[in-house]
Amino acid sequence: MLEELETLLAQATTEIAQLTLEADVEAARVKYLGKKGSLSALLRGMGKLAAEDRPKAGEAMNRVKVGIEAALDSAKAAAGQKALAAELKREPVDVTLPGLPRARGHRHPVSQAMDDIIEIFARLGFATADGPELEWDLYNFEMLAIPPDHPARDMQDTFYIDMSTAPAPPPGSPPTRGAQSALLLRTHTSPVQIRTMLAQKPPVRIIAPGKVYRCDSDVTHTPMFHQVECLHVEAGLSMAHLRGTLDSFVKGFFGPGTKTRLRPSYFPFTEPSAEVDISHPACAGKGCRLCKNTGWLEVLGAGMVNPDVLRMAGYDPEVVSGYAFGVGIDRLALLRHGIDDLRALFENDVRFLQQL
Ligand code: PHE
Repeated sequence: MLEELETLLAQATTEIAQLTLEADVEAARVKYLGKKGSLSALLRGMGKLAAEDRPKAGEAMNRVKVGIEAALDSAKAAAGQKALAAELKREPVDVTLPGLPRARGHRHPVSQAMDDIIEIFARLGFATADGPELEWDLYNFEMLAIPPDHPARDMQDTFYIDMSTAPAPPPGSPPTRGAQSALLLRTHTSPVQIRTMLAQKPPVRIIAPGKVYRCDSDVTHTPMFHQVECLHVEAGLSMAHLRGTLDSFVKGFFGPGTKTRLRPSYFPFTEPSAEVDISHPACAGKGCRLCKNTGWLEVLGAGMVNPDVLRMAGYDPEVVSGYAFGVGIDRLALLRHGIDDLRALFENDVRFLQQL
């Protein structure tokens, strides 16, 4: 047995030393060390040895294995070196040639719009606030004065989370009572109004950009889209402050010639409420096909914060008042670039995005 092992080692190292191709070295590895290789065959014979001879044989077996492995490794390294040298000879590298330029990307048009909006509001003294995309019914609806049976819920087809498999709410979560404890993908950024007011005392001056979700899909709707919420609460605020802020915002975003117009509307969490139109930047308010010849485009919802909402968030509506609005960022990005299909923004076709 010991002799056989020595012979195997000698034979293997001589043979391996002559190999020049990496593939051949790998084949030799299988031949000698593989499951069905020479060494395994000898190993199987070990059972027939007398018990006192086994340790010695085992030791020799190990030595042979290590020896063959070392031979294989050095043959492999040599073969690799040789292959590289051959490659370099075939295709010499001219290190003085200019490098291949790598195409530079840019931010997505929605991110560009979002960053611009954050910057415009920063100049107006607004901080940026944040909230989770998976939101409590309590914050997305109830504390915005939209109780479970309120018809306004129908305007926002909602993705609810199956609570039967959801983990228990973490400590410090809002009260779990009926629908309030349900989780959903937030349908607007307005719950950040509630989160902010619960977390700090007035005055509040924030914007909250982020993703929102509705069960909607056509040329002007995608199931995921982006909004920016604006909330300003302080003593003595009126509709005039709302108009002033809106005006600075749209002028900052679309240019100084842009006008705003308010039309009466309804949102449960604002009172009074308004739809806000801007003069169509593409036709400078003159009227064209895109704005249905009106010269105006509806871009956002706004209003004075409903006193009930202030009260639910722990603010005193006798002392402070507030205004709020919510803008669809994707719409703004489309308008800015003259795109007419919202879905194109999220198909991530680089040929499309490169143009923006
Ligand atoms: N959250 C409303 C929506 O998504 C917009 C809005 C925000 C309206 C703030 C008024 C005040 O439709």
